[in-house]
Amino acid sequence: MTPAWLYDLVLCLHLLGAFSLVSGTVVAGVAFEVARRRTSCAEIALLLGLARIGAVLVVGGTLFAAGFGLWLVNLGHWGYGTPWVDAAIGLLTMVVVIGSIGGQRPKQARKLATGLASEGLPPSPELRSLLDDRMAIVLNYLAAAALLAIIVLMVVKPGSPHQ
Ligand code: HEM
Repeated sequence: MTPAWLYDLVLCLHLLGAFSLVSGTVVAGVAFEVARRRTSCAEIALLLGLARIGAVLVVGGTLFAAGFGLWLVNLGHWGYGTPWVDAAIGLLTMVVVIGSIGGQRPKQARKLATGLASEGLPPSPELRSLLDDRMAIVLNYLAAAALLAIIVLMVVKPGSPHQ
């Protein structure tokens, strides 16, 4: 029998991870979208540096949410094979894969913008194409949508009796 305090503690840590994951996604997304609209390399580099802090929150949050989430499955006897649990694991794996691929272009853009800014140069066509890369933008928005779907699954828990 799992003591209630232990379940509550693990749930709090899981939610801390989930909040970090969601807030990091918002910070990275907003900073990137604003950076794409700037014309100075120094501003672009600064904003993409902020996006990087968001990415760090996302990585830490993912580790916390996944680690403590899997522990909750055991502690609460939710069971693997339960549709919402399996769907959450699948969706979070998808978020990690497409988020890592989608994060490559912004990372390259940050390094390039920092180099150009240190030489006092304007954004090059290469920097513009990294910032406007359609595939990276689509992947990052898909990852954010999958995150929203996980939150709905966690709250509704389809297939489990309401508690
Ligand atoms: C491997 C992935 C995950 C697993 C196995 C998992 C598992 C769980 C479990 C077992 C609970 C406890 C439900 C309860 O006691 O009511 C829970 C709650 C919750 N999880 Fe997750 N989780 C995962 C990922 C996430 C992610 C990525 C987020 C958000 C971004 C998230 C947000 C939440 C929320 C908001 C709750 C509270 C829901 C409620 O109590 O109604 N989880 N999770």
